Amino acid sequence: MTMDRNLALELVRTTEAAALSSARLMGRGDETAADQAAVDAMRNALNRIEMDATVVIGEGERDEAPMLYIGEKVGMGGGPKVELALDPLEGTTICATGGPSALSVIAAAEEEGFLHAPDTYMDKLAVGPEARGAIDIDKGPTENLQRVAEAKGVPVDELTVVILDRPRHEKLIEEVRQAGSRIMLIKDGDVSAAIATCSREQPVDVLMGIGGAPEGVIAAAALRCIGGEIQGRLMPRNEREAERAKAMGMRDVQAKLTMDCLARGDVMFAATGVTSGNFLKGVRFRAQGALTQSVVMRSRTMTVRYIEAEHNFRHKLL
Ligand code: FBP
Repeated sequence: MTMDRNLALELVRTTEAAALSSARLMGRGDETAADQAAVDAMRNALNRIEMDATVVIGEGERDEAPMLYIGEKVGMGGGPKVELALDPLEGTTICATGGPSALSVIAAAEEEGFLHAPDTYMDKLAVGPEARGAIDIDKGPTENLQRVAEAKGVPVDELTVVILDRPRHEKLIEEVRQAGSRIMLIKDGDVSAAIATCSREQPVDVLMGIGGAPEGVIAAAALRCIGGEIQGRLMPRNEREAERAKAMGMRDVQAKLTMDCLARGDVMFAATGVTSGNFLKGVRFRAQGALTQSVVMRSRTMTVRYIEAEHNFRHKLL
């Protein structure tokens, strides 16, 4: 059975539930509690959907994550057979500190639709539609910036590159500065940064640097639906992670990961804002209720729907 388009709307209920639950804990300084609230809520919502789903990108390995772990079966059974790549709270520290752009995200694909990757790091290079086809992660940052500038018809010094603010990116930042591009350093949240490369509203052209591998797969699903491109390369932190990647089916752990390796076939993506950012508004609590803003998109039609929901807590148990 193939994925019905209505599944996309079912998925948004799961990100809304996770966002509503974790947003209550915004600013408490407790990453674990915020993440747990999101995971519990998303899992409950997933188990109310008629589908036969397997988490392939989730909260981690079974021995580390009791819920929504890699390989966990969710859904009521019956319905379409799908793979899920999810992050109930993308930006746990953002939520715990009340920063911008924490999201709840989920993507669905048919079987073998997502890269089966362990919870490790990934080097990423993402661009919007105008620069799709111009990038190559095998080339250095300077060459890629020249290619993106050419594709977009702008000088290199007018490009803005988003990079996670981490000591591991010292050399990358130096090279991008040498190339002359503008840099936006972010504390967390490279899924929304990858999506920002596709937005005309946001001054973001490229995402570069090393972040979470699960986030790389999720970003690929989103970019498939909005015409961008992301390439990656796994960066295992140790032998155990490299071995795990091989056990999950990656013959060459160092291989360049193109869009098709990361997310292929018919893909759906849904996200709800937990804290407000340029992409989505966060949860706004009201008397006996809350407002949420979500986005739902599908690769088949490339329709992007924004959903503003008014939740009434008198009639809905979370
Ligand atoms: P979490 O929600 O799992 O904390 O991820 C936030 C994030 O900033 C991701 O967007 C990014 O890919 C990853 O962490 C980077 O990892 P690290 O914080 O270890 O550099």
